[in-house]
Amino acid sequence: MDAVADDAPPTIEQLTEFHEAGRAWVIADESDRPVAYVLLDVVDGFGHVEQVSVHPHHARRGLGRRLVDAASDWAYEHGLAGLTLTAYTDVPWNAPYYRRLGFRDLADEEMPDGLRAIRRREAEHGLDAWPRVAMVKLHVN
Ligand SMILES: CC(C)(COP(=O)(O)OP(=O)(O)OC[C@H]1O[C@@H](n2cnc3c(N)ncnc32)[C@H](O)[C@@H]1OP(=O)(O)O)[C@@H](O)C(=O)NCCC(=O)NCCS
Repeated sequence: MDAVADDAPPTIEQLTEFHEAGRAWVIADESDRPVAYVLLDVVDGFGHVEQVSVHPHHARRGLGRRLVDAASDWAYEHGLAGLTLTAYTDVPWNAPYYRRLGFRDLADEEMPDGLRAIRRREAEHGLDAWPRVAMVKLHVN
């Protein structure tokens, strides 16, 4: 999946938009260097996880979960129904990981319009060379 790995990171302008909207969370190390972040959009009345990334040197220590939890808390506090995201079906740290965090796969006919548009753009961008899925996690409380 070199093409995915080589994809350009978000631009400073894009990151600034998330930051100014209060929908970017960053975890820094003891030297205040960023090692993990999540970006959240609002789509179809859900918080939509646009990107979550943890530096490989800091992986598998629960940082990804903490970031998704922070995004989920924000969505709850802002009256949104839960979280959505799109992910690769067969990549262990994509859909299988999110299922562990409480997300479930959305069937095609369940997909709201905004999420459907995101999936369409992803396909146009070439991401669908491997199986992808849209997922949802509703607030339990
Ligand atoms: C997905 C990602 C954010 C998870 O962050 P993390 O801090 O490592 O995740 P957590 O510590 O909360 O959870 C760890 C779990 O993630 C999964 N996981 C993470 N890295 C994995 C790997 N290299 N191989 C297999 N499973 C992995 C496992 O389920 C793991 O649980 P385990 O350690 O008990 O096996 C991180 O792997 C990442 O940045 N990946 C690259 C970017 C990406 O694919 N983002 C998602 C789409 S935008």
